[in-house]
Amino acid sequence: MSHRTFTMIKPDATANGHAGAILDQILKSGFKVVALKYTQLTLAQAQDFYAIHAERPFYGELVDFMTEGPIYAAILEKDNAVLDFRKVIGATNPADAEEGTIRKRFAENIGRNAVHGSDSDENAAIEGSFFFSNLERF
Ligand code: RTP
Ligand code: MG
Repeated sequence: MSHRTFTMIKPDATANGHAGAILDQILKSGFKVVALKYTQLTLAQAQDFYAIHAERPFYGELVDFMTEGPIYAAILEKDNAVLDFRKVIGATNPADAEEGTIRKRFAENIGRNAVHGSDSDENAAIEGSFFFSNLERF
């Protein structure tokens, strides 16, 4: 059975020219692209997307960062997509991420950490629908 997850290549990695290498690693790790968009979040969109973190001390910093430049948003498909993709991206803090993971290779620090990956099937569906209509998924 195939599952889906949702990812963003965040503004740091996009601005630093790492999007191609990150997409290459994602595809070589066995994920199929179901939907893909190059866009820039407004402040209201970033606050809404990260509403679950609204009470956390880093929330303001997070929404400022996520709106500072363009991102790539994508829905990905693979068996066990959510958990397997978290392994491909590595720990939230790149200092703790395993060698070869996307965050180890490309993240600057715990806040500016190159990529997003959904943390559950339920959130993957919510996050995918935040960015894409059914007509944009193939
Ligand atoms: P993500 O949602 O982006 O895939 O990251 P995650 O699950 O590994 O981490 P999460 O706890 O969901 O945090 C969301 C994002 O907030 C920023 N963050 N900053 N300064 C800090 O201590 C801190 N902690 C988290 C990161 O950009 C993190 O990815
Ligand atoms: Mg998260």
